[in-house]
This record gives sequence, structure tokens and C-alpha cells, in this order.
Amino acid sequence: MDIIQTRWESLVKGLVPNVPAAVLFSDRPRPMDEELRARLSREQLAGFAQIRAPEREREWIEARRLEVQLADRIGTGAFRSVAHARTTEGPAVLVVGASWTPAIAGVGVDLEPWDREIPPRAAARLADSREWEAAREAGLSAIDVWVVKEACFKAVPGNRGTVMPAYRLQALEREASGGAFGEVQAPVAGGALRVRFKIFRWGRFAVGLAIAPAAQRSISDQ
Ligand SMILES: CC(C)(COP(=O)(O)OP(=O)(O)OC[C@H]1O[C@@H](n2cnc3c(N)ncnc32)[C@H](O)[C@@H]1OP(=O)(O)O)[C@@H](O)C(=O)NCCC(=O)NCCS
Repeated sequence: MDIIQTRWESLVKGLVPNVPAAVLFSDRPRPMDEELRARLSREQLAGFAQIRAPEREREWIEARRLEVQLADRIGTGAFRSVAHARTTEGPAVLVVGASWTPAIAGVGVDLEPWDREIPPRAAARLADSREWEAAREAGLSAIDVWVVKEACFKAVPGNRGTVMPAYRLQALEREASGGAFGEVQAPVAGGALRVRFKIFRWGRFAVGLAIAPAAQRSISDQ
């Protein structure tokens, strides 16, 4: 397990200071063991029993293991999000979390191999020309925009019925380290929510992290 903690903390601190947070990554999935089994709920074990594909089973086990480790670090009431990526070298899992605070509505994460191609038709659906222009200026590729939008989608609790293209890039700033951060306007009932994100490269992956603030500033009538 690797811990990518400092980057996430700097993002969280920009929104709400002093919130314990962690980002845990693993690309070495291990089988189920008694220690992990003892930490899982009855519902989780029932869900696990339904999984048929061995690859999905390995991903699921490692995600639950990282969630348990996350809870040990920042508490069981934490906000959290999970992303899986499959590569020729096997599955990789990323779990992010932040301790509960009334300032946060949710956190989101996405993880994709940075060289994964987005077909032109999917790219055209994913973002409009203004967003692609901003992404190009910040040095971001199509997969970067994908992980940003997916992370922001996952961070918004009321995301059912919405789709990633409706999450609009509003602000984008390049970082000296090569990543970028910014804001996405997310559709929520009765208005919109400004979701903060950070994107960076982690080994062979593009990683998007997002935090949705609880204070919903309605901008539907602006
Ligand atoms: C549900 C969705 C977020 C999952 O993404 P994915 O790439 O299939 O899988 P990932 O590995 O990134 O994420 C899986 C995790 O997302 C979480 N998840 C599932 N549905 C979720 C939701 N609605 N919101 C937040 N998180 C969700 C789960 O924790 C899951 O992991 P787990 O089963 O181990 O707990 C995604 O498929 C989706 O629905 N996206 C929006 C659809 C869309 O806009 N499509 C148009 C594209 S142009």
C-alpha cells in the first residue's frame, strides 16, 4: 500500500482547514484473509458472495482492505470514494477519505492509466469546445479531463440521474508540479455546486480528486 497523503491534504486545507484526510493506493491486491473478513459487515460479505468474475473479486477485496485502513486512520464516519483501474499488470485501487465535517458534502476520486485513449466521439460528448480549450491551455489531455469529471461526479451525493458531461469545468489552473487544480460546476437539485478538484499523475495513472462543499451556492438564476 502506498499513501499519497500530502497532496490530498493540501487540497482539503484549501477548502476546510485541519480536516484529517488520506489517500491510499494499492496495485498489489491480496486475497481475502480472516483479519479482513472480521472487519466486514454482513451486507458487505453478502455482496462479496455475489461477485462472479475473479478480477472483480480481487478489486473488491483490495478496495475493502483500503477502506478498513482508511477508517483506522481517520474514523469510520469519514467521507470516502473508491476508484479501480485495470491494466496489463493487474488491478490498481485508490481510496480517498476525509473525516466528517459539516463543510463537506462528499469526496470523489478517479484513476485511469494516463495513456488510455478517449475516442473522439466520447471526447466531444464529455466536454464542450470552451472546456477543451481551457484544458489544452493548462496542458491537460483528454484522459485528464475524464478523471476530473468522474471524480467530481463521484463527489456529489445527489449524482443519480446526472451524467459527467453536465459537470462543467469553470476554473483551471496549472501547477508547477505538472498537475492542475480548479473548479467544476455540478448540477444539483435547484441549482449548482462548485466542486473543487485536483489532478496529478501517479506512476502510470492520471488521478482526479474532488471535494464537494456542503454549502450549496445556488447559481441557477445567475
Ligand atoms: C458509477 C461510476 C461513477 C463508476 O465508475 P467506473 O469507472 O465504472 O468505476 P470506478 O472504478 O472508477 O469506480 C467504482 C466505484 O465507484 C463507486 N460508485 C458507484 N456508483 C457511484 C455513484 N453514483 N457515485 C459515487 N460513487 C459511486 C463505488 O464505490 C465503486 O467501487 P466499489 O464497488 O469497489 O465500492 C460511473 O460508471 C458512472 O456512472 N459515471 C457517470 C456516467 C456518465 O456520465 N457517462 C457518460 C460519459 S460521457
